[in-house]
Amino acid sequence: MRNTSALIVGAQFGDEGKGKIVDSLVQDEDFDCVVRYNGGNNAGHTIVSDGQTYPLHLIPSGILHPHVTNVIGAGVVVDPAGLVQELATLTERGVDCKNLFISDRAHLVMPWHKVIDAHLGGKIGTTARGIGPCYEDRASRRGLRVGELVDENNRVDKEHFGARFSEVGAHKNELIQKLYGLEPLDLEKELAEIFHLAETFKDRVCDTSELLYQIKTEGKRVLFEGAQGCLLDLDWGSYPYVTSSTVTFSGCLSGSGSAHIPERRIGIVKAYSTRVGEGPYLGELGDYETIKVQDVAKKGEPLPPLSDDEKQKALNGDDLLMGRWIRRAGREYGTTTGRPRRCGWLDLVAVKHAVQVSGLTEVALTKLDILVDIPKIKLITAYKDGDKTLTTFPSRINQLARCQPVYEEFEGFGEVKNAKSFPELPRAAQDFIRRIESYLGIPARIISVGPERSHHLVQEETHVAG
Ligand code: GDP
Ligand code: IMO
Ligand code: MG
Repeated sequence: MRNTSALIVGAQFGDEGKGKIVDSLVQDEDFDCVVRYNGGNNAGHTIVSDGQTYPLHLIPSGILHPHVTNVIGAGVVVDPAGLVQELATLTERGVDCKNLFISDRAHLVMPWHKVIDAHLGGKIGTTARGIGPCYEDRASRRGLRVGELVDENNRVDKEHFGARFSEVGAHKNELIQKLYGLEPLDLEKELAEIFHLAETFKDRVCDTSELLYQIKTEGKRVLFEGAQGCLLDLDWGSYPYVTSSTVTFSGCLSGSGSAHIPERRIGIVKAYSTRVGEGPYLGELGDYETIKVQDVAKKGEPLPPLSDDEKQKALNGDDLLMGRWIRRAGREYGTTTGRPRRCGWLDLVAVKHAVQVSGLTEVALTKLDILVDIPKIKLITAYKDGDKTLTTFPSRINQLARCQPVYEEFEGFGEVKNAKSFPELPRAAQDFIRRIESYLGIPARIISVGPERSHHLVQEETHVAG
């Protein structure tokens, strides 16, 4: 196991705890390199180390380990302003970012992408970071790549990029004005800003496929870090309520251009489920329109836990309150946008879909500690569509929307955070995990019980083969 490369991929709707697991694995198993292969700064991956929280968006989650090479692959879309801001914040906090490299083939998120996303993304509930419009331009071959801004000698190519930017920008400004009725961008000002930003990251730009090949030749090991989750994948998620990139195993190969095949493919699964943004969500606890209004977190104001009376109501079937219980316990508010996340019980039908699509070999189960003290917890093990029982994830959102979840109920459990091995977990927690493993047919090798790097246990011996 220790000799192979590995893939970390979200097996739900994102925010499963990928950043934490990547950071912990790098520490525990000495990975040499971490590669982001999809998405952009729509992602928010959180690492907690020595009580300090590091929210990462574009920069891979190996960055806190100075000896690790961190790569932003070709499948990632890079917002220059977001990148520079993230680098500055990390550097200010004493994080050494010298081993960060950016693919010259990665596409750039341009100012017009953000304007268009903010204008059109509401129906999907996007992060408004310009991600969809940028991938759209990549596919239609209108996109601008990092390697056009920074040349093979790591110089900012003002002549080439300036011409391309002005040409594409003029076309986009027409759209912005005439089609969307919005204020046009000041292209000259935006271009000057991009040139200024590029000066700070130009030395990191290279052919990252070649870099990864060299790393392989030296016998080093790579950890691929997916952003988002399988149910947000462009093809395999709840289309069209998805992101615009390939999240799954295949995205890792195309988005990194790497000769490393990750034999170990770890699906990150939260012990319950969350979703942020619009789209069908089977078994959602509470109505999203209400949650959007009633569950907004005010900056700086801590969220009180539910009262005993509210907890009783939640246990008696008040879904809005049960969702709120989980949301508050798990601090389920977006790392990128601060929006309240929608909450539900762990949906094994959906996770099984992720297992199949990415050929997952194991699961890392996160946030088990959040369920502590909820006396009854549930798993979704099938969907009911009228008379039919489904155990596969439907491709059609109208079918998904009319399905009802079939639950299995489990006894709750007490404290888990001090367990250092599987047998030290409460019996009821063990039963819950064993059911997840048997349903998915792969082991939950890593079990995470807190946000800190060290808060997890590893099952060396597992009950399912994987
Ligand atoms: P990602 O996008 O998959 O990296 O996940 P996010 O960082 O958006 O959200 C996961 C949140 O849960 C972060 O605040 C993490 O610090 C936190 N977290 C991760 N694993 C655990 C865990 O096992 N227990 C607890 N309590 N928090 C966790
Ligand atoms: P990490 O990597 C959760 C969601 C958005 C929206 C949809 C499309 O932190 O798990 P986009 O801006 O990508 O066009 O939005 O996808 N979304 C995420 N949800 N975690 C993420 O990333 C997400 N990245 C995008 O909320 O519903
Ligand atoms: Mg996140």
